Amino acid sequence: MKNILVTGGLGLLGKPLVSFLRKKKNNIFVLDRSKNKKRNSLIKGRNINFIYGNYQNKNFLKKIIKNKKINVIFHTGAVTQVLEGLKYPFKTYKNNIMGTINILECIRQINPSILLIYSSSDKAYGEIKKRNYLENDNLKSIYPYDLSKTCSDLICQSYSKVYNLKIAIVRCGNLFGPGDFNKNRIIPETILSTMKNQRLKIRSSGKLIRDYLYVDDAVKAYFMIMNKLKNKNSNTLIYNVGSRDNLSVVKLVNMILTLMNRRDLKPIILNKSKKELKFQKLNDNKIRKELGWKQSITINKALSKTINWYKENRNLF
Ligand SMILES: NC(=O)c1ccc[n+]([C@@H]2O[C@H](COP(=O)([O-])OP(=O)(O)OC[C@H]3O[C@@H](n4cnc5c(N)ncnc54)[C@H](O)[C@@H]3O)[C@@H](O)[C@H]2O)c1
Repeated sequence: MKNILVTGGLGLLGKPLVSFLRKKKNNIFVLDRSKNKKRNSLIKGRNINFIYGNYQNKNFLKKIIKNKKINVIFHTGAVTQVLEGLKYPFKTYKNNIMGTINILECIRQINPSILLIYSSSDKAYGEIKKRNYLENDNLKSIYPYDLSKTCSDLICQSYSKVYNLKIAIVRCGNLFGPGDFNKNRIIPETILSTMKNQRLKIRSSGKLIRDYLYVDDAVKAYFMIMNKLKNKNSNTLIYNVGSRDNLSVVKLVNMILTLMNRRDLKPIILNKSKKELKFQKLNDNKIRKELGWKQSITINKALSKTINWYKENRNLF
């Protein structure tokens, strides 16, 4: 049995990750600064301990890691909205970069054998035109959220190599699934506006292309990566976790409208948001070959599950 700390444990990824780890009989500590009680109620069960707080407070973080005898940390907490990053770069850099450094420092000072699994992102690569990203490509992003991920990704690699820490870096594409409270993300926004009988306003040209991955498949990847990191010889691990569903925004929105039987609600394309990457595609051969990871659900099934969750939890929004 391990004592696992999950930062950002009330987020889209955090909640199913915590539920999955709990089933494996671990002792879980969820650290999140969200005061939204509705979110806590979505992860239930024994062996889950909620700690309300901010990982930017290093002394507080140190106490948790020491007192709870933490031996694995999943650092999923972050400012995660691209638009929020553009509006508040300082806050984004401080939280995402300095917050990650706090965690690394705590591990270095308290117990260098603690495993750290860090949520980086495909955004960390920046724009690499017309081809898919490989783990050993240079990271060269420019927009604030993206750059906050690039910096913390590189800093994690540095701590792992310089201080011999056991760190795995996970670079996923766009995640979706039940329990996403970021109403500005394209999938929740499409579902919620359709439920309200409204036409969706797409901020971009609608042509931006991303990998879309169901969150439970991402959770499995995180778990496999943690197990790999436990090996004596694993120190710095980096894995892309992509998707066979590499779609434009318009295509994705139309799939949701079809599943909701509302193709009549044709989206309005505003074409306002210009400061975003145009094309992203991860090459995930490495995790497939080395760990045997694969997607287990089709996009239509995954979207249907997500739509049903929003319908059943209409009262939370
Ligand atoms: N969702 C995606 O499409 C996606 C894709 C690739 C990578 N990622 C990365 O995966 C991770 C999880 O993403 P998500 O979609 O679950 O995000 P989310 O926005 O749903 O959840 C993030 C959680 O972190 C918490 N948090 C933020 N700052 C905190 C702080 N200083 N102290 C304590 N808690 C804090 C928030 O309250 C929130 O509950 C993030 O690091 C994100 O950058 C996400």
